[in-house]
Amino acid sequence: MKISIFYHSVSGNTKQCAEYIAEGANSVDGVEAKVFDIHAPDTDFAKESSCIILGSPTYMGSMSAEIYTWLEKSMREFSPAGKLSGAFATERYIHGGGDVAIQGILSHMLVSGMLPYSGGGAFGAPVIHYGPVGLAEDIQGCRDTFITYGRRMAEKASELFTR
Ligand SMILES: Cc1cc2nc3c(=O)[nH]c(=O)nc-3n(C[C@H](O)[C@H](O)[C@H](O)COP(=O)(O)O)c2cc1C
Repeated sequence: MKISIFYHSVSGNTKQCAEYIAEGANSVDGVEAKVFDIHAPDTDFAKESSCIILGSPTYMGSMSAEIYTWLEKSMREFSPAGKLSGAFATERYIHGGGDVAIQGILSHMLVSGMLPYSGGGAFGAPVIHYGPVGLAEDIQGCRDTFITYGRRMAEKASELFTR
């Protein structure tokens, strides 16, 4: 079961978080998770993926323009209908808008016929709400949360698509 994790990243924080998510997802039996820059996808792998996760830096309190454009123009190339979906963000400031970025991404995914999932709250610590948000000043400090998120996404995708 394949999972594609896409990101837009200029200074590397969002890319690093995508790699943590892949680490968590790949720890689940039968899962192959790969990370792609939104500008350099493996289209066949993404089409075959049961789950697509998208990460954005927070720009002006929301997702970056590149991510918005990717959602409008590119995601349809990857047969999104019916796939599990998730979103994550990085931000410079606590309450800088990462949650807003995630909500915007998940709304696009919902409208596209995907199954948005947070892997969150009710599972307990680390508590994830809409999706994980990494703080630029301490990306490594967010590692465990992102790994847990990747594992939860992969477990849910396995439950939905391989049983
Ligand atoms: C144009 C621009 C706008 C930004 N706006 C915000 C913002 O509104 N809130 C915030 O917390 N950080 C903001 N940041 C900081 C980035 O979200 C943060 O540094 C992020 O981790 C960068 O991700 P990257 O390293 O993957 O490129 C902004 C950065 C840029 C370049």
